[in-house]
Amino acid sequence: MLEQKILTLKTQALEEIKKATNEKEAVVLKVKYLGRKSELNEILKGLKDLSPEEKRKIGHLANTVKDEIIDELIKTEKLITSKNFDWDGEKIDISVPGRRIKVGHLHILSKIQREIEDIFTGMGFEIADGPEVETEFYNFDALNIPANHPARDKWDTFWVKSGDRIALRPHTSPVQIRYMEKHQPPFGIIAPGKCFRCEATDMKHEHTFYQFEALMVGEDINVGNFKYIGEQFFSQFFKKDIKVRLRPSFFPFTEPSFEFDISCTVCGGKGCRTCKNAGWLEIGGAGMVNQEVFVASGYKRNAYQGFAWGFGLERLAMMKYKIDDIRLFHSGDLRFIKQF
Ligand code: FA5
Repeated sequence: MLEQKILTLKTQALEEIKKATNEKEAVVLKVKYLGRKSELNEILKGLKDLSPEEKRKIGHLANTVKDEIIDELIKTEKLITSKNFDWDGEKIDISVPGRRIKVGHLHILSKIQREIEDIFTGMGFEIADGPEVETEFYNFDALNIPANHPARDKWDTFWVKSGDRIALRPHTSPVQIRYMEKHQPPFGIIAPGKCFRCEATDMKHEHTFYQFEALMVGEDINVGNFKYIGEQFFSQFFKKDIKVRLRPSFFPFTEPSFEFDISCTVCGGKGCRTCKNAGWLEIGGAGMVNQEVFVASGYKRNAYQGFAWGFGLERLAMMKYKIDDIRLFHSGDLRFIKQF
């Protein structure tokens, strides 16, 4: 009699549970068949009044059925959560693909800067830094560009406040002095950073741009070391064999001074449209550090020698990625930025 009742209960419970289509229904059925006041629970509670043999038989059956109902409920709940279900009228379809989270990425100039830093640290160089708002002493005087020297015209830049003799730095060369004041040779550093010039902008010129300074100083650092480091760097940067050419030039803070060219990254030196058939591309200014600069930094005259350069980061990026207008870098135009 009791046995039959349990089996009927089982059939009814499993059938109803299978038909449940949402969580609410599943909870109601759980209470109905397994709750404190459920028929099955009443039977289990009444076991104590049965004979020992019946207690064992009915107890075993009731507990087995209870386990089967629990299993069925778990199965149904899993099925419900894996399908669409209705929760308090809110329709949630968990099978809909997630919304892609938009992740930003580094700007091309930051990427190039890191690439350059990696190459140089791989050659044992350190990364140095200095202020973007700089005093007249570090911007000019210590670099052997005295007031009234015509070379100042090129770099005379945005003065922060007239009379204060503080300006936005027009090049990264002031970092040379700041570093040498605190360190003794031998050393090799690069100093990447922002520069500012009171400049009419065009395809090749910006008022705000990046340079990276290199400075290597020791007792006998010479032009041969300079060319070798240059060739190593540019070959790694452009991922091909690059040759370096130095032409005489003038900078107050280097003696001798050079214009630094590399073999054309497109034709390798044969001559093409990119290099205007010259076979060479102009990179920037460089030279052997002027002894006046060492003295201004606190070193003894003629105790050391070294080389320095200051190259434009945007100009290198333009060569590497064939970008024809420098103004794109800071335009904020996502169509440009997203390409890199
Ligand atoms: C200098 O700024 C020197 N301080 C470089 C130097 C350092 C020479 C150490 C010797 C020793 P110059 O003014 O030529 O030199 O600028 C160097 C590079 O900065 C240029 O070749 C160019 O790549 C970049 N540059 C200069 N002006 C601009 C500008 N307005 N917009 C974009 N890039 C520029």
